[in-house]
Amino acid sequence: MEILDGKKTSNEIREEIKETVSAMKDLGKRPPHLAAVLVGSDGASLTYVGSKVRSCEYVGFDSTLIRLESNISEEELLKHIQDLNQDDNLDGYIVQLPLPKHINEEKILLAIDPKKDVDGFHPTNFGRMSLELNAFIPATPFGIMQLLERYKVSTNGKHCVVVGRSHIVGRPISILMSQKGPAGNATVTVAHSQTENLEKLTRSADIVIMALGIPEYLTADMVKEGAVIIDVGITRVPDKEHPKGYLIKGDVAYEEVAKKASFITPVPGGVGPMTIAMLLQNTLLARQSN
Ligand code: GUN
Repeated sequence: MEILDGKKTSNEIREEIKETVSAMKDLGKRPPHLAAVLVGSDGASLTYVGSKVRSCEYVGFDSTLIRLESNISEEELLKHIQDLNQDDNLDGYIVQLPLPKHINEEKILLAIDPKKDVDGFHPTNFGRMSLELNAFIPATPFGIMQLLERYKVSTNGKHCVVVGRSHIVGRPISILMSQKGPAGNATVTVAHSQTENLEKLTRSADIVIMALGIPEYLTADMVKEGAVIIDVGITRVPDKEHPKGYLIKGDVAYEEVAKKASFITPVPGGVGPMTIAMLLQNTLLARQSN
């Protein structure tokens, strides 16, 4: 069994980006600039956005954090989006999800200029990705593809079962895994809450990608010997023993599944850190296309 070490791999990617930025600066060019919009003060969102901004500083990017009150109107938020779209000194930005219930998420995502949509959530980017055209690929699926590619995991002709059909992870990763390319060419099945006999499917899979959000759902009896296991789950489970009051759990019962797997991503330290590295990569690509 080999661990797909997202911490190590994301550090390597960050070093590559840092070097590129340093060379840009040596040539007198402006470094990439990423902005993050955070509405309200949800604990997990604050943590994610905080690490995104810190990572920007590390690689030498400019970064701007825009914090807005949770009771901001949709109209006001759309004004901020227009300003960001028109800011020539900004290469890309993200609007951290989820948004408060009174704001229509779809309307906000549609207002983002696709050229600055480094999250890859705009339909233009999603469509272009699906058609194998140049596009911003959503950071989590992009990170999974990088892990598979860099560890030279064989995906060609393999059966990949994706559990989850979210717009951010399940759906895009199912498209990418089936496309031509180094970590692609897989035969993909998308499973979801209505799937019958899920265990039968996962047991037939050479690669299982869990993006369900239910802690330790995938157990050893649900996977075949030698399977590749990718765990996208990050659920905060209350734990009084832990100083933070919670533990981060993936969708995979790691200890028992690891014994049968050929490759597996841990939680934390697997897909999570890759997501931030790929957001930086997308921002660098946005800068380079300007
Ligand atoms: N919320 C959870 N994951 C993400 C992400 O990748 N981008 C944004 N903007 N919000 C998120």
